[in-house]
Formats: sequence, structure tokens, C-alpha cells
Amino acid sequence: MKKVLVLYYSQSGQLKRVVDSFVAPLRSGDNISVECKKIIPVKEYPYPWPFYTFFDAFPEAVYLDGCPVEELELDDDYDLIILGYTSWFLSPSIPVAGFMKSEQAKKLFKDKPVITLIACRDMWIMAQEKMKRLLKNVGARLIDNVVLTDQGRSIYTFVTTPRWLLTGRKDAFWFFPPAGVLEDDIRAASRFGKRLKEALADDEEKLSKPLFKNMGAVTVDGKLIATEKIATRSFMIWGKLIKKAGSPGSTARKAVITVYALFLLTLVLTVVPLNILVRKIIYPFRQKAINESVAYYELPSGR
Ligand SMILES: Cc1cc2nc3c(=O)[nH]c(=O)nc-3n(C[C@H](O)[C@H](O)[C@H](O)COP(=O)(O)O)c2cc1C
Repeated sequence: MKKVLVLYYSQSGQLKRVVDSFVAPLRSGDNISVECKKIIPVKEYPYPWPFYTFFDAFPEAVYLDGCPVEELELDDDYDLIILGYTSWFLSPSIPVAGFMKSEQAKKLFKDKPVITLIACRDMWIMAQEKMKRLLKNVGARLIDNVVLTDQGRSIYTFVTTPRWLLTGRKDAFWFFPPAGVLEDDIRAASRFGKRLKEALADDEEKLSKPLFKNMGAVTVDGKLIATEKIATRSFMIWGKLIKKAGSPGSTARKAVITVYALFLLTLVLTVVPLNILVRKIIYPFRQKAINESVAYYELPSGR
């Protein structure tokens, strides 16, 4: 009997549905037990998010501070762990970071093969780099990564995702598509469960080799790598500044958050279009280096 543990944190339930679709084929196997547990923050985050609370979460997210989480009722030993998380400000969400830094995670993940499963807008590369560090700290072995991103081009999701998070509304409007991951993509995540079921039957999880090669598990957009790196650097500087201003929810912090939100808006309206233009011009000259980066960030699963 193979024991699979699935851990996740989802606010709207979207990631939970991705997780359910992924693991459904495993549940039909006689020789596999699947335990699915939600990570529970001691103090729950709101959804939909009030504007200031949303930005207030940003410094703690980028610095991987985590938050106190409930201890989960779990067995001592599992054959494989699937860790479902969403990206918050290019970092693993605060509750997931909190769990990964807990004493329970240290015991649970030691020497265990882990598959990460991400559902986010479209910026997860730096979050996964941070997750790799968190997994290394607890002695886990990352064998695969599966990523589902929101439907529509970045320029649309830049509007539809924040609208969804701040109002709870996911519907299509004007020329914008609905927010969130395409239903077909969620359904298609079951192909990973099917493959995993076969792999578990053959003890493949023990080999520290990716199981989902050539299955479209991840697709890195080469043009987003530089944006994510630059944004992460800027987030670290502003995160430090906002933290110094005061504790979460304080008035002083709200003042700095207002300046930051205005800065971000100016950046998006000026530097981002300029950056897109510059990158379009230099892209052909940097093609080789970008292709190498893409291949690296698509590991371990690859396309
Ligand atoms: C505070 C916050 C910050 C977010 N930052 C990002 C981000 O940097 N990149 C990204 O692709 N998605 C980002 N998202 C979207 C989430 O990754 C995810 O798609 C969304 O919250 C829905 O997940 P759910 O299953 O928890 O409802 C953010 C969401 C929240 C709440």
C-alpha cells in the first residue's frame, strides 16, 4: 500500500479543485491511500481581500516569514507528498511558507519525494526558487513541478486576477476573459494523477527522477524571467521599507503602502511597457541565454 499525502492552501477553492482533479485517478487504485489536508493559518486571511490588507501581506510574503499554522493530524510516514500552493507576490503563499517552516514539516518532509503543484496568475518562477530552498531546508527531494496559470494573456490577467482577488468576481466583462485557470486545464490535470498511479505501482517515486516529462507540466515564458527577477529585487527593497514603517495593520504602514501602490502603478504604466519594448529588441541577441534559463526553470519536470 502506497501512502500519498496532499497538502494545500486555497482561498477561493480554485487550487483545491486543481488538487482534486490531479489526485482523482489515485483514489481509484486499491493499493494507494490518499490523504488530503488543508494548511490552516491560526489567523485566516480574508477573501476577497480589502485593498490595504492585500498589500499589507506583501513584506511578510516576500521575506518568507510565514504565519503560525495549526498542527495537522497526520501519520508519521508517507511514500510521497504533493504540495499544492499559490504564488503571493512572487513567493509561496504565507500559510504554505508558515507550514514549511514548522516543526511538523521538518519531520514530515525529511527524505521524502515531493511534487509541487502550483495554480497562480502567471508569475511563479521566483516563488518556486524560494520553495526549492524551503524544501531543501526540511530535507525533501523535489521530483516534479506542475504549474497551471490563469487563462488569457498577461495584459488581461493583470486586470482580471486583481479584480477577482479584491472583489471575488471571476466573470468575463467587456473584452476580458473570466479570471482564474481555464476549466479544461483543471480537468486535464488528472493526466498527472494517472501517470503517478502507474509510477507508484512500479516504485518509480523512489528513483528521484521526474515522472512527468513531456506531459506539459510546466511552460516557462522566457520573457517573464527578467520581469520576475527585477520585480523580486524591488519587492525586497520595498518590503524592508514597509516592515520598518510598522507592524501589519498599523497606520504608518498604511501610509508607506499607499506610496508603494502609487509607485507600482507608475512603474506598470511607464517602465513595464518600455521594458517590453527593450526586451523585444534585445531578445534575438539573448536567445541562447534565455533558452538556457527557460530549460533550467522548467526543471525537474520539463515541458
Ligand atoms: C496576496 C496575493 C498575492 C498574489 N500574487 C501573485 C503573484 O505574484 N503571481 C501570481 O501569478 N499570482 C499571484 N496571486 C494569485 C494567486 O497565486 C492565486 O492564483 C489566487 O490567489 C487564487 O488562489 P486560491 O486557490 O487560493 O483561491 C496572488 C494572490 C494573492 C491573494
